[in-house]
Amino acid sequence: MANFITISSVLKKIIIAVTGISLFLFLIVHLLGNITIFTGSPPGRDFNAYAHFLESFGILFTIAELGLLGFFGLHITTSLYTNLINYKSRKSRYAVSNFAGGKSKKTYASTSMVITGVVVMAFLIWHVLQFRFGPYYETIYLSVNGGEPVRDLYRLITEEFSNIWVVLGYTVALSLLSLHLGHGFWSSFQSLGIYGKTFTRVTYSISYLLGLIISLGFLVIPLYIFWIN
Ligand code: HEM
Repeated sequence: MANFITISSVLKKIIIAVTGISLFLFLIVHLLGNITIFTGSPPGRDFNAYAHFLESFGILFTIAELGLLGFFGLHITTSLYTNLINYKSRKSRYAVSNFAGGKSKKTYASTSMVITGVVVMAFLIWHVLQFRFGPYYETIYLSVNGGEPVRDLYRLITEEFSNIWVVLGYTVALSLLSLHLGHGFWSSFQSLGIYGKTFTRVTYSISYLLGLIISLGFLVIPLYIFWIN
């Protein structure tokens, strides 16, 4: 029984780490694709063309979206479940639960991962409803198959990021995303058993730096759109 619990908790850690690193890579690709927001004439041409290019893969694009949803689902449910189990076992072991002593750092990190993770999850639901399932505008300057207009996602982005509350919401969520990525990326390697004195020190530093760069990269978009409108 003890062996089963240990194996499954190792498996859970591996699932969280592998899905986390994959989602990290998705974020980098998403950010690189979003750079087209700043290029093209008239504004939005490149971005709409890029989004249309992805959708033109049809069923393959849908499969990729479902795969992504699966990765998010696995990452979130496994993390929350693991934390719930850990919380329950801690409570039953200690009469008083405090952030103190030798274990405090670890407890603090996992607690903050749950908090930042839940906020990022709420942001993600909002974000996907806002853009993926938001109003369908059509472009007047970009068409395919000799006249069929493509979706004007740039107009939607412009409308949404002209609202100060949306920009503030993104600022809060992306700041927390930075912390979540910073801790998550580094600890994924620990979970996969890849560590060593120098390796851990280096990954720890670049992890928080990467989290910051990715979040700032995303944050520039709402700030820029708000500023030019
Ligand atoms: C702040 C800058 C961002 C912009 C301008 C942006 C833009 C977009 C747009 C336009 C879509 C819809 C694409 C389509 O329908 O083809 C989308 C989808 C999505 N975004 Fe973002 N995004 C941003 C940040 C983020 C962040 C920080 C995350 C994750 C934490 C994220 C995760 C997603 C996901 C999961 C989808 C759904 C993918 C799909 O179904 O194709 N995005 N984003």
